[in-house]
Amino acid sequence: MIPSASYEAYSSEATLAVEKLTKVYDSSMGRVISLSNVSFSVNRGEFVAVVGPSGSGKSTLLNMIGALDRPTSGKVFMNGIDIFSLNDSQIAEVRNSTLGFIFQSYNLINRTSVLKNVEFPGITGGMSDADRRRRALKLLNFLGIKDKAKFKPTNLSGGQQQRVAIARALMNDPKVILADEPTGNLDTKTGNDVFNLMTLLSRKFKRTIIMVTHNPELAEATDRAIHIRDGKIEKEVINVERH
Ligand SMILES: Nc1ncnc2c1ncn2[C@@H]1O[C@H](COP(=O)(O)OP(=O)(O)O)[C@@H](O)[C@H]1O
Ligand SMILES: [Mg+2]
Repeated sequence: MIPSASYEAYSSEATLAVEKLTKVYDSSMGRVISLSNVSFSVNRGEFVAVVGPSGSGKSTLLNMIGALDRPTSGKVFMNGIDIFSLNDSQIAEVRNSTLGFIFQSYNLINRTSVLKNVEFPGITGGMSDADRRRRALKLLNFLGIKDKAKFKPTNLSGGQQQRVAIARALMNDPKVILADEPTGNLDTKTGNDVFNLMTLLSRKFKRTIIMVTHNPELAEATDRAIHIRDGKIEKEVINVERH
């Protein structure tokens, strides 16, 4: 591993960029600067890990990139579009068509079937019922859990639930996948399986992936690790073996 020069080195093919991103939370506990002037860009198909201690601002960063929350200042560019210059419905459209989300605790809807969970983003994506069902089943098959389509998520193991969440994240064929500690609730082997799937999505299917992780071994197996501390980029490490 070698330390990287600077994020500008990546900007030529950038599919995603954040510029001087800052998020300040005002709460009864006082002001918290969760992110402070964070800038970097990510190339198409690049697999980037975000690492850092608990409370360092990793989830805040992902939530801003995913436009789940607005920054206090700074910009997020998705394919050159400054997403926070858009109105709320345009932001929702960009989010739905460009991004897939994967969370540590899967965030599945437990009262409905695995199949319906996977189909769900296709509803807002404007797909026909038949296309939606066909695609959801294809994705479940790709992830090796087609036989679980009619189950409720709670009847699946953690690793299987995360596969459902990955299938759901892929429903609208997103160019960018944001994953917040996707292996955090999984045992080592299951976590590695999920990680290998994400590697496949980046390598074979050229998806851009940003993954928060606490696992140094996984971080080293991505293209680049961005280390965050106290809301700032501490260092970036390019993992040469991957290039
Ligand atoms: N909604 C919120 N309101 C107030 N403070 C928040 C909120 N979300 C996050 N924070 C604070 O911002 C900091 C960074 O949090 P977070 O991004 O969740 O860190 P990480 O994901 O690295 O553990 C923490 O100090 C956290 O308490
Ligand atoms: Mg977090």
